[in-house]
Parts: sequence; C-alpha cells; structure tokens
Amino acid sequence: MKKVHSLTGMIDLIGSKVGKNNIADKIFYTETILKNIFESYSISEIRTPSLEDTNLFKRSVGDTSDIVNKELYSFLDKNDKSITLRPEGTASVIRSIIEKKIDNESHKLWYLGPMWRYERPQKGRYRQFNQAGVEMLGYSEGLAELEIVSMICSIIRKLKIEDPILKINHLGDRDSKQKFCIALVDFLKPLATKLDERDLKRLDANPLRILDSKNPKTLEILKEAPKIKDYLSNKSLGTLELIKSTFSNECNIEIDHNLVRGLDYYTGFVFEAVSSNLGAQDAFLGGGRYDDLCHELGGKELPAIGMAIGIERLASLAKSIEIPKTLVSLIIISSKIEPKAYKIAHKLRSISKSINIDVQLSDGSLKSKLRRANKDNAAYALIIGEEELESETVIIKPLLDKNSEQTVMSFNEIESFIKEID
Ligand code: HAM
Repeated sequence: MKKVHSLTGMIDLIGSKVGKNNIADKIFYTETILKNIFESYSISEIRTPSLEDTNLFKRSVGDTSDIVNKELYSFLDKNDKSITLRPEGTASVIRSIIEKKIDNESHKLWYLGPMWRYERPQKGRYRQFNQAGVEMLGYSEGLAELEIVSMICSIIRKLKIEDPILKINHLGDRDSKQKFCIALVDFLKPLATKLDERDLKRLDANPLRILDSKNPKTLEILKEAPKIKDYLSNKSLGTLELIKSTFSNECNIEIDHNLVRGLDYYTGFVFEAVSSNLGAQDAFLGGGRYDDLCHELGGKELPAIGMAIGIERLASLAKSIEIPKTLVSLIIISSKIEPKAYKIAHKLRSISKSINIDVQLSDGSLKSKLRRANKDNAAYALIIGEEELESETVIIKPLLDKNSEQTVMSFNEIESFIKEID
C-alpha cells in the first residue's frame, strides 16, 4: 500500500526516554523552561484558536508584509468564508481582549503553540513551527521595555544560548516617525519607477516597511535615503541607551538603526535576538512595541509591547538540556497480570518527585526486558518474578554503575529506596 507522507515543511517531534538529547527532547524541555520563566514574571497564559478570520491578519500583520502577501495558509470553509491558520499570535491576543471587552485594562499574557507560514522550507524555517510569545498590554514605553529585555536575558542565560546578540532599534515616536516617513516618501517618490510593485505598495501603505525590502535595487537606492536615527527624539534615543546600559553585563546588546521588523504593526522600540550558530535564519526571537494595533482592530487605545520566540530555533541553540529525571524500569516476570506488582509501580509513582517509572508492558523474557531498560538509559531495573511476589520482595539491579551488585528489598524498603534516590 502507498505510504502517506507528512506535508513539506512540517515535522514530527518524537521524544526519547532519558538523556537522549534529541531535538524533540530539547524542544519539549525549552517549552517547560519558557513556561516557568513566564510564570516567574507573573504573566498569565492565554490560548486562542489556531484558525481565525483571514481579515484579522490582513489588518494587523499587514498587506505589505511577506507573511500576508505570500505566506498565509488561507482556505474557504464550508460556508465560503476565508479562514487562516494563524501565522503569529499577537493579532489573535488583541482580537480576543477586544472581543471580551477587556481592552481598557492592562494585561500580561503568554502563549505557546503552532503557527503556520507557507515559506520555502530550509534549515530553521518550517511551514508549521512553534512560537512562545508574551504580550504586555496597557503599558506605555518605559518599564515594560525593561521587563521584556530582562525576560530575554533570563531565557538566554537559563538555556545557555551560545553567541547571542540582541539587536535593538527605535522606529520613533508618533511625531518623529511621521516626519521621517514624509522625508522618506519625498526622497523615494521621484525614484518610484525604479521600485518594484511590492515596494511601491509599501510606499503608499506604510513607507517605513520599505526599509525591510529584499530587492537589491531598492537597497542600493536606500543607501542615500534619509535615516531613521536622524529623526529620533532624545526620548527614543534615551530608551535605547537605557536598555543597553541596564543589561550590558547580562547580554550582548547592539543598537542597529537598520533593524525594521517584517510585520506592519510596530510603532517604537523593536528588537531581534540572533545567533551566528543558526545559519541564514539567524533570529530566534523578535518583537517590539505596537501601540496602535488595538485601536486599529476596533478596540480602545491600548499601548502594548511583546515578543515571540521560535521554539525550534531556540531549542537548537540550547547547549545541552538538563534532564533531572532518573529512569527506573519495572520488570514484572509473570505469566499472569499481577495487580500486586503493578500496585508497587502505582505507589512508587505517587511518592516520587523526579523519578520516571517505566513499567515494561510488553511480554518477553527477563533478558529482553533488561536489554530494553539498558537501551532506555534506565538507572535501575526493579525486577519482580513469581518468587519475589511470594516473598513480597523486589530485586534492584543498578544499570548505569556496572560495578554495583544487585540487591533484594522488601516491598516496604523499596519505598525508602525510591525516596533516597529521588
Ligand atoms: P516574527 O519575527 O515574525 O514575530 O516571529 C518570531 C520568531 O518566530 C522568529 O524570530 C523566528 O525565531 C520564529 N519563526 C518565524 N517564522 C518561522 C518559520 N517559518 N520557521 C521557524 N521559526 C520561525 C512575530 O511573530 C511577532 N508576533 C512577535 C511579536 C509579539 N511582536 C510583538 N509581540
């Protein structure tokens, strides 16, 4: 029979047991670490649907972005309504708080889940990938910027990310952004015939986004164009300097005045964290301030800042994962199902905090089950045969330390033993 394959750019993640350190293990571990960090910053979880009305992304991420232009997974549903698999999380979070009529309050929210972008797959770039994001809503420029960068530093430290650089920039406050955009349009309008269709569209809709152009001709023209940094207010420049000086001992922070993000909604402070170990797709997180988005989507004026982390990219950078768990393999050698022996596993699981207990469920000889336990890197095999059941004892066989002898313990003693190694 012909096999069914997974779709291009979509990967399966299959975790191993203990200590294998494959990419799936690293991804799951990274997700746990991120959740713990978010909770330690007193941020609450939000879950929004994977499918949204296509208009949500057109109106937020924007018509001039690659994401909306080329990469949306959009379909007509059975009612001929255009729906889209979310390419990012920010728009859905804002949609949700507007819909719940809580857009007049401040919120700190995190999310984690799959996103979809129809990109050309390559290393570090998938069509379905996972993002963890944080959105701080209702906070004007200031402490919220520091809080976000503090969190990025914690993530980099905790996961021991190699060679990270946090690039930061400011797109200007309303006044300076407006002045810069006028100057940019004045400069580019006479050269309009040299711009491609995409950049012309950007010139009309959101001139700042031309700075994100990948067209070599546009890039050449832009060399002579007005520069954002010449229009920034002292306050905006001060924000960049404050962030850099506050965290310079923690993280390598570079002010990069050429950094503009690939989404339309950004308004002020923006950033991207990169690592040379990632190759061409070098950003493992990105974000910034988007003070106008809530209002533009029909809600109240709500200043906001946020970031999203590419889990696959971050996990591939995590040096090694600490798996504190010890694996104990329970081998029951008996011709019939032994509730008494199984109860031991149940009891041990209820008392242990960090030990994983793998009850070997398949039939097989002691030898094959021991082989399996060794393959899984179990630290101990607990063996219960007919004789042990009779005498209410368990054989403990250390598997990692080959010099240690196996011992026999009573059912009661085994509980103390598990507590000891826990
Ligand atoms: P973004 O820069 O489009 O921002 O995505 C954030 C991160 O997601 C990227 O830095 C990258 O690590 C990862 N990523 C993006 N596309 C792919 C892909 N095709 N395959 C693997 N990883 C990918 C946003 O999505 C904004 N919503 C961030 C934000 C939140 N801004 C404010 N709040």
